Amino acid sequence: MCGIVGYIGKRDVAPLLLEGLQRLEYRGYDSAGIVVTSPKTPGLKMVKAKGRVRDLEAKVPARFKGTTGIAHTRWATHGAPSDVNAHPHMSADQKVAVVHNGIIDNAGDLRRKLEADGVEFLSETDTEVLTHLIARSTAEKLEDKVRQAVRVIEGTYGIAVLHADHPDRIVVARNGSPVVLGIGEKEMFVASDIAALVTHTRQIVTLDDGEMATLKADDFRTYTTEGTRTTAEPTTVEWEAESYDMGGHDTYMHKEIHEQADAVDRVLRGRIDDRFSTVHLGGLNLDAREARQIRRVKILGCGTSYHAGMIGAQMIEELARIPADAEPASEFRYRNPVVDPDTLYIAVSQSGETYDVLAAVQELKRKGARVLGVVNVVGSAIAREADGGIYVHAGPEVCVVSTKCFTNTTVAFALLALHLGRTRDLSVRDGKRIIEGLRKLPEQITEILKQEEAVKELAEQYADARSMLFIGRVRGYPVAREASLKLKEVSYIHAEAYPASELKHGPLALIEPALPTVAIVPDDDLLEKNRAALEEIKAREGKILAVAHQPQEKADQTIIVPKNEDELDPILMGIPLQLLAYHTAKALGRDIDKPRNLAKSVTVE
Ligand code: M6R
Repeated sequence: MCGIVGYIGKRDVAPLLLEGLQRLEYRGYDSAGIVVTSPKTPGLKMVKAKGRVRDLEAKVPARFKGTTGIAHTRWATHGAPSDVNAHPHMSADQKVAVVHNGIIDNAGDLRRKLEADGVEFLSETDTEVLTHLIARSTAEKLEDKVRQAVRVIEGTYGIAVLHADHPDRIVVARNGSPVVLGIGEKEMFVASDIAALVTHTRQIVTLDDGEMATLKADDFRTYTTEGTRTTAEPTTVEWEAESYDMGGHDTYMHKEIHEQADAVDRVLRGRIDDRFSTVHLGGLNLDAREARQIRRVKILGCGTSYHAGMIGAQMIEELARIPADAEPASEFRYRNPVVDPDTLYIAVSQSGETYDVLAAVQELKRKGARVLGVVNVVGSAIAREADGGIYVHAGPEVCVVSTKCFTNTTVAFALLALHLGRTRDLSVRDGKRIIEGLRKLPEQITEILKQEEAVKELAEQYADARSMLFIGRVRGYPVAREASLKLKEVSYIHAEAYPASELKHGPLALIEPALPTVAIVPDDDLLEKNRAALEEIKAREGKILAVAHQPQEKADQTIIVPKNEDELDPILMGIPLQLLAYHTAKALGRDIDKPRNLAKSVTVE
């Protein structure tokens, strides 16, 4: 979604901010803007442009100097994408400039009140309300002006504010939209995403909801919107700046698919305990006695993370014999769920910032539930809000479409299931069996990715399909769900996933030569049942692409995936279908890393 980047120090700020905006491009946006100032030449200079960051760059004049500045990429919510609606928004007296991520729910009411007081609005955005509120505050200090303004708005925000009369500082605030400070040597950075910071500093402070900060070149301080000082110790982020480069691949999606063997190696590293045939999960904050008292597990996530949660729930049921299920966090939080003290809730999120997941976690915590996080971004809001959890260590995922994080999240769930299983009734023998299976994963992923040329040819054959059906049974079903999401979001081909067991109850009516079916057919106890489904499709002249452990007679083509333990097979079976989605999108000339209408992290409702 929208992106914020800001800097205060001694360097020429405009090129630095434009570079930061480029690093946030992957989040999706439709316009961009920048405002700069400096203590030597006070006054705010602003440029905005509809379109890409390069369009903004082209508009920035040669004499656009400053040492303090804020910039933004906007994803239109209130008002169409345009130069005027792009951020920053400036007050009529040209003194206050604001960039904002999030949505102000009471913007309409506030706008009407301000207009009745004679304020003229230039844009259609909700953000402009904030600009006027700050500019009209009679408080002396910029911090107090901002504090007064944010206290009358309802909704979500991550904001950065510049004031022409206070060119020595940037004031920022967070409520529901990420704000991260980057701590440098006599220079400070701010961004909505650490991707914009890691080329400059690895020392990070993540603001909490309800927190504000003042950044000066050589100092920062944090405090609440009530004005109480808070303590903020910088943490070091592990991610390297190079992780954000394309590394010779044509897209981040391709790069991230190919990083999966290494990524899985990372999520396993240092966690396996051969002595007791279990795993150590240091951050879980759940002792063996507590683990034994869990009566249910409920996993919450959105999109791909929800699908990883579905696989996780099956693993937990199978290995730990605890009833478990997954539900979209976006649904869960709106149905006034019964919160049970004996249930372990698990929030899954790559970004750790997805608003629906965060809101579900906050609701659960408010009701006294124990919540774990399975998260990729260290120090993200969900990771901090949870009582404990597992980092999936996939490294930064830049492509909007999630691939390596999905795989690593499923492996993290396998670790959790093994850990819970071994505190309960899973035998040493089965523990060993699962550990051996986990150790095989990186090599097996490499083996799967070697089939890329063959998958590419298949993708080219299927690229003209108008719709595709994905089927799987029990362990194969979440794999089918995720593969269908991958195809639709990156290629825009309609795709639908169904349990293979449900074919006769409706979707069989769709089968005809023009509707290809992708079938997940693991060599497990349901193999014959899955084969029967293939027969039914073939009898109706449906085309079938199977993903299986051995060639499937009824399928037109089979992609062979190496066999692991039954419980771990779902981790691998979706990987060739990531390649299928990628190559289909490529054949169709899609914008693979930034599919239309989608954003990497959805920090608004
Ligand atoms: O950052 P999260 O894992 O919480 O994001 C959840 C979904 O928005 C995300 O998985 C989305 O479905 C992706 N586009 C999947 O490729």
